[in-house]
Amino acid sequence: MKWDQSRAMLERSRRSLAGGVSSPFRAKAPVPLFFENGQGARLTDVDGNEYIDYQLAWGPMILGYNHPAMVERLREQVAKPLSYGAQHPLEFVVAEQIQAMVPCAELVAFTSSGSETVQLAHRLARACKRRPKILKFEGHYHGWMDGALHSYKPQADETGPLEHPLAVPGSRGQVANAAENVVVSPWNRLDVLSRILDAHAGEIAAIFLEPVLCNSGCLMPEPGYLQGVRDLANQHGCLLVFDEVITGFRMHPGGAQAHFGVTPDLATFGKAVGGGVPLSVVAGRLEIMEQMFSGGVVFGGTFNGNPFSLAGASVCLEELSRDDGAALRHANRMGETLMAGIRELAAGRGIPLQVTGFGAAFYLHFTTLATLKDYRDTLSDNRDLLQKFLFAALSEGVILVPDGRMYVSAVHTERDVAETLDKLARAFDRL
Ligand SMILES: Cc1ncc(COP(=O)(O)O)c(C=O)c1O
Repeated sequence: MKWDQSRAMLERSRRSLAGGVSSPFRAKAPVPLFFENGQGARLTDVDGNEYIDYQLAWGPMILGYNHPAMVERLREQVAKPLSYGAQHPLEFVVAEQIQAMVPCAELVAFTSSGSETVQLAHRLARACKRRPKILKFEGHYHGWMDGALHSYKPQADETGPLEHPLAVPGSRGQVANAAENVVVSPWNRLDVLSRILDAHAGEIAAIFLEPVLCNSGCLMPEPGYLQGVRDLANQHGCLLVFDEVITGFRMHPGGAQAHFGVTPDLATFGKAVGGGVPLSVVAGRLEIMEQMFSGGVVFGGTFNGNPFSLAGASVCLEELSRDDGAALRHANRMGETLMAGIRELAAGRGIPLQVTGFGAAFYLHFTTLATLKDYRDTLSDNRDLLQKFLFAALSEGVILVPDGRMYVSAVHTERDVAETLDKLARAFDRL
């Protein structure tokens, strides 16, 4: 497989676009690929190579590429004003769809990116509880804003003790004292969390978490863990916020909160909610959400609730709700088949591999550990071997997320899955 056109385009792009890519997360080996088109679960790059895609544009394309109902609805919408900066009926139509699907959604608010939803949820929580601090978990990602980007991928020598991890800033240029308002806990350890909450009594406005730790290896919560966190939040008078930017409209039509049966006070959504159009959502309890209108909590956004995004979301949510959530049941079933098949391929070749997560979002860990529980366990993953595998998979025509994650859409077919396993068998053989 050749990537000459992508290489040439990157050279050209670098002369006008900072870094040549629109997000540094995309600057990956062997070369950031430039794409020309896609259909269903397949993508074609500018060199004419075809791939079965498990990156789904980092998550949003839950209905695959060029889904006919999305295309038709967006064509119709594009003939109308793209934005009003004012009210229009699609706002309450989509808000009502989300209310019907998501357990915590007594009210919703629209923004454009996941990072913005987190900023809004932080502000709502601090205003509601009149407390300054947010508790987050090591390895969890909540966007790139100054107040949120702590202890996402700290190095082993930066993390501090497991009993009270340090809040490690994630970027140069980040406001240094933002870390003063962040408390960090290890994931999947209720005993440690309880002690940390005791040590910060009366200071923590909200416990903020990815209900499945998707951004550091798709690590599932242990049985009863989320309910345990819910109980601790109640005992300490904190809000519980689920960041469902990945799990939302993917794990289950009602998100991880519906799957696990634990309802947070607030939740943030992005990615799959729009099926590819830029849209994000904060949903939550009425009295917390109403602070935006009567409680002095300021929030804005020129593109909030724009008709184009909401038209896309209305179709996406309709498709995901149909037949009692059949589309996501399919995506998760296809993903489970892949997870089992990949485990078998690695085991058959004596390659130490753990596949963690749920069907529609899972992760490949090249590790000798028998179980992975929290971020620190992932530090022993063999990243060189992962990079070799990603390159081998790409060369066979399979795209994974560059960190080793795989997203499965509602349009991946049994044929796609079988073909993928054949290709990945050859990729394992290349290692
Ligand atoms: C759990 C989670 N929260 C927030 C974000 C930030 O979303 P965005 O990239 O749309 O700003 C992401 C992005 O990957 C995410 O995975």
